[in-house]
Amino acid sequence: MAGHTFEQYQACADALKKKLPFQPEIGLILGSGLGPLAEKIENPVVIPYEEIPGFLVSTIATHAGKMIIGTLAGKKVICMSGRFHSYEGYDFEELAMPVRVLKLTGVKVMILTNAAGAVNLDYKPGEIMIINDQIMFSGASPMRGRNMEEFGPRFFDVSKIYTPSLRALAEKCAEGSGLVFHEGVYFFMQGPQFETPAEIRAIRILGGDAVGMSTVTEALTAAHMGMPVLGFSVLTNMAAGILDQPLSDEEVNEVGNMVSDRFSAYMEKLIGAIDVDNIG
Ligand code: HPA
Repeated sequence: MAGHTFEQYQACADALKKKLPFQPEIGLILGSGLGPLAEKIENPVVIPYEEIPGFLVSTIATHAGKMIIGTLAGKKVICMSGRFHSYEGYDFEELAMPVRVLKLTGVKVMILTNAAGAVNLDYKPGEIMIINDQIMFSGASPMRGRNMEEFGPRFFDVSKIYTPSLRALAEKCAEGSGLVFHEGVYFFMQGPQFETPAEIRAIRILGGDAVGMSTVTEALTAAHMGMPVLGFSVLTNMAAGILDQPLSDEEVNEVGNMVSDRFSAYMEKLIGAIDVDNIG
């Protein structure tokens, strides 16, 4: 079975650390159309993924593929602009790498964002869902295979995978943001095709409020290490079959871009409010 060793993770993190101006405390992974937040990072040091030996290399045009380290709202952040997806051909085990490497550089909390389709009929495009739980019925766990005790135990609890105190803070910061927020369940689909209307009906029955092709492996990787996680879905479209129109990447990016200024301002406020050493 293919897989990375702890030493490989450590070597990759050490190589990255050499390029960092300081030890980051908050890790951010940005989804499609959410790039503008990265532009708010002050005194940024930019490291393309291909300059981090042993790291994964990104393949999609809309995902820039670089680490940006700097300060945001006074916090030391490291932002992955461009993420890795199962549909690109990565194994689920490989998808554990980004969050593990970030943890080894000193990151204490992860914030994950994605673009997602709205499955819940009360949601609308342009609104935001604070992820309160996830469903992943396809694909293996990123923790499949020999367990790396250095990161966490073989069997681990995911009953509060998205940290309740951070979700409460996210709700609190939502006031005055000019955005509509929900809390709901993110349902993972491997893609790259968007879902069929029948799949969306099934997902709704199963308890999904939004659907997307990322995030779940990153949240699991953090949970394995006991790392607090906060996740947001930017609802870029109604999921398949709800409206009589085809889904497209353009629509996803367009709506993502439409809300990204407000969402970035919101994220900045939220990040400023996180007390990294005191997350309940
Ligand atoms: N389905 C899956 N992934 C997505 C969607 C969707 O409708 N919108 C944005 N990402």
